[in-house]
Amino acid sequence: MSEEMVPDFDINKSVRLIFATPLVVHDWPNSEQFNQDLEKLVRHSEDNDKDGYGTRSNAGGWQSPGNLITWKDPVVDIFRQRIEKLVTNLLQETARDTGKNRSFRLMIDAWANINRDRDYNVVHTHPNCMYSGVYYVHQGEPEKAIPYSGLLEILDPREAANYVQIRHSVFDAREFVENIPGRMLLWPSWLKHWVHPYQGKGERISVAFNVNVIEENEQPA
Ligand SMILES: [Fe+2]
Repeated sequence: MSEEMVPDFDINKSVRLIFATPLVVHDWPNSEQFNQDLEKLVRHSEDNDKDGYGTRSNAGGWQSPGNLITWKDPVVDIFRQRIEKLVTNLLQETARDTGKNRSFRLMIDAWANINRDRDYNVVHTHPNCMYSGVYYVHQGEPEKAIPYSGLLEILDPREAANYVQIRHSVFDAREFVENIPGRMLLWPSWLKHWVHPYQGKGERISVAFNVNVIEENEQPA
């Protein structure tokens, strides 16, 4: 049989990417002052509550109580609005068209994290909610010789993905995200993740959040 009898074709037209996992990585512009104000608020909170919440996923470090979103401060109002904007946009993007206008009400919890030298977060998910995320406030001074210092790593939820034993393919990827100030992430809460040990001077400051979503009564389009 000659090669011509088996025609070539465009594989892109035949591939369906199924069961996709959204990870939103959004860098909010012009955030210098906002980050300074949020950092000040978080540091002030730690100064007044050295114990904080205690331990969640953190090994070392300080975590605030989970009610940060209720703190009376203008910077928290903006923070909440940023979360709402990000989540709402993703919901509209991922919702299937029902022929009706769809609107969603959000319930948000948030807490601040301060990791210092050698502090890290173990592998975990965020139970009892739908979407989770983090906002990066201050990067600290991570040791340049330590490549993963303070980086978030998200684990592949396809537990058997590495059955495809072809290195350097889409099936062996590790997903790291750098904690750049002003960057906000959002992912489904069931996605396992962890934070590599922060090694360096100063503090790695972030604010994590959970979101539950309730669909409002559907209105005719
Ligand atoms: Fe987390």
